[in-house]
Amino acid sequence: MKIGIGNDHAGFPMKKELVPILESMGHEVIDYGTHNDERCDYPVYGEKVANAVAVGEVDCGVLLCGTGIGMSLVANKVRGIRAAAVSEPYSAKLSKMHNNANIICLGARVIGIETARMICEEWLGAEFEGGRHQDRIDLIMAIQDNQ
Ligand code: RB5
Repeated sequence: MKIGIGNDHAGFPMKKELVPILESMGHEVIDYGTHNDERCDYPVYGEKVANAVAVGEVDCGVLLCGTGIGMSLVANKVRGIRAAAVSEPYSAKLSKMHNNANIICLGARVIGIETARMICEEWLGAEFEGGRHQDRIDLIMAIQDNQ
């Protein structure tokens, strides 16, 4: 899969460890920055990855900030994005199976790299179940369309 990855300064150290892990799983990783640990604004990088996913430049996205929360708030502003902030593998798997999350957001100050690896494995390996879950996603998207 082609994965877009983005982060702020808080997520930068984890990205350095996570990119080779994702590549070793056979994925291509496109890095949208930031590329160092100087303080920066997470919305800038969250938007870049969310847009890349929304237009199909990449298949899905991984966003890293201190908690994962800021990045999820940003990404979910972009039409067509379903970003899930998760801190354990079970929710990661269900975020794909039930919510068809196309971006996963990780808190680099909350979880360690092994948990991040397990989250990515579960999420990338899971399949969306469709059916009633698609109906619910359609309801979510309708909220956006009705704004
Ligand atoms: C940066 O200090 C921190 O606020 C950011 O990484 C993130 O946790 C925001 O949600």
